[in-house]
Amino acid sequence: MASRVIPVEPFDLVLFGATGDLAHRKILPGLFHRLAVGQIPEGSRIIGCARSEMDADAFRASVAESLRHETRGKDADLDKFLSLLDYVSVDATGERGWKELAERLRADVVRAFYLSVGPSLFAPIAARLDQHGMATPNSRIVVEKPFGHDLASARELNRELRNCFAEDQIYRIDHYLGKETVQNVMALRFANALFEPLWNCQHIDHVQITVAEKLGIEGRGDYYDRAGAARDMLQNHLMQLLCLTAMEPPSRFEANAVRDEKLKVIRALDPVPPQDIVRGQYRASAHSKSYVQEAGNPDSTTESFIAMKLHVSNWRWGGTPFYLRTGKRLRERLSEIVIIFRDPPHSIFPRMDHRRGNALIIRLQPDEGVTLRMTIKEPGPGGMRLTEVPLDMTFAEALGADVEIPDAYERLVMDVIRGDQTLFMRGDEVEAAWEWIDPIIARWQESGDRPAPYDPGSSGPEDALMLMHRDGRRWREIGS
Ligand code: BG6
Repeated sequence: MASRVIPVEPFDLVLFGATGDLAHRKILPGLFHRLAVGQIPEGSRIIGCARSEMDADAFRASVAESLRHETRGKDADLDKFLSLLDYVSVDATGERGWKELAERLRADVVRAFYLSVGPSLFAPIAARLDQHGMATPNSRIVVEKPFGHDLASARELNRELRNCFAEDQIYRIDHYLGKETVQNVMALRFANALFEPLWNCQHIDHVQITVAEKLGIEGRGDYYDRAGAARDMLQNHLMQLLCLTAMEPPSRFEANAVRDEKLKVIRALDPVPPQDIVRGQYRASAHSKSYVQEAGNPDSTTESFIAMKLHVSNWRWGGTPFYLRTGKRLRERLSEIVIIFRDPPHSIFPRMDHRRGNALIIRLQPDEGVTLRMTIKEPGPGGMRLTEVPLDMTFAEALGADVEIPDAYERLVMDVIRGDQTLFMRGDEVEAAWEWIDPIIARWQESGDRPAPYDPGSSGPEDALMLMHRDGRRWREIGS
């Protein structure tokens, strides 16, 4: 089944940080793929901006080099793509380049300013765009994470951006929302009548959300040591997964209707007591350095793993806990949402020693798909023995081999051009998430507690297992 492609209108996309890693690894390849499938029409332009002085040809050559793996056998598409590219050298905090950039933009097409730069440059760039008359009603501004490092800084950033752009022109990226399977959580829940009647505390025992990574902090020590898993993953990506799982059905699939419901979830979160949070930090192994070695900070108390139990205090979820965990250098790369249904209320089978409830496992990555754990009769004579089997659907198999699951950035950049904010975080949502997490982080800072050590390739610290065991539950394994 080939996916349908609806072309967007021609646009001007200005990519700040155009020589950077994210631009070359994700954004430009994403745009190339969209052009190759016919979604980006002729007459569109992508203007790279960065501090480096170079001409458009040198920029095109550097992009061609970064794209060489994607473009093999697609020379005609590559030529078309390169012909859309232009370059202006801009000093984000100075005067150089702004006038020239303003002159290149067209008045009659959508213009998107994509800020693939460090967060300290978000506000200065927005202000310069405004000063030079570029923040027009047909323009949009896209900012990457991190959006602030606490409530106060997020508020300040929102204020600075809104001085130049209206809220409906601001696109705050959480790339998890661009993942196909994350959007599938909404499709599963709201496009099927099967699950929703059961999607509440009466039928669901608990929910587990895991985002496990195999890699360590990979040369990002400077940033990561100031962020930790709480700021880097929990406040944004896991919070978004939690919201999509727990939210009420919006009245329609439209940006503010969806975001209103997500906001209500964040506002319904109870404060988390210290005993319901486990922080971890990976040790060294024979093959890999420890967290503190990688971070270059021997005294670091930053967590590379976090697990917590939390409650969404509302009518739907009263008494059903959500267990969240995320960490680096774990056994496998695996992201999944697991809905554990309650056990059957009564067993009619005498030898049914375990009455395990059904489970719905939504695999976000890798092997995107859905599994429903069922209990059936074990084949064979000699009485009624039961066993568990998965009702398994891997999307790639179910949809056919020619369906490609596009990278999150492809979807998100096209949504910006189309003007659809559904998969972007609204300012109040980001602030609410900080408001919830700030006291948790402040408590760690006051106590100075060290995170529990864990072995690389494990499932995190022992205490994380205990968080579940003490409630008579257990995590699904991370990998086999
Ligand atoms: C980023 C974090 O936002 O998400 C990284 O800063 C993390 O630390 C990454 O590795 C995970 O994204 P994905 O798409 O690889 O699951």
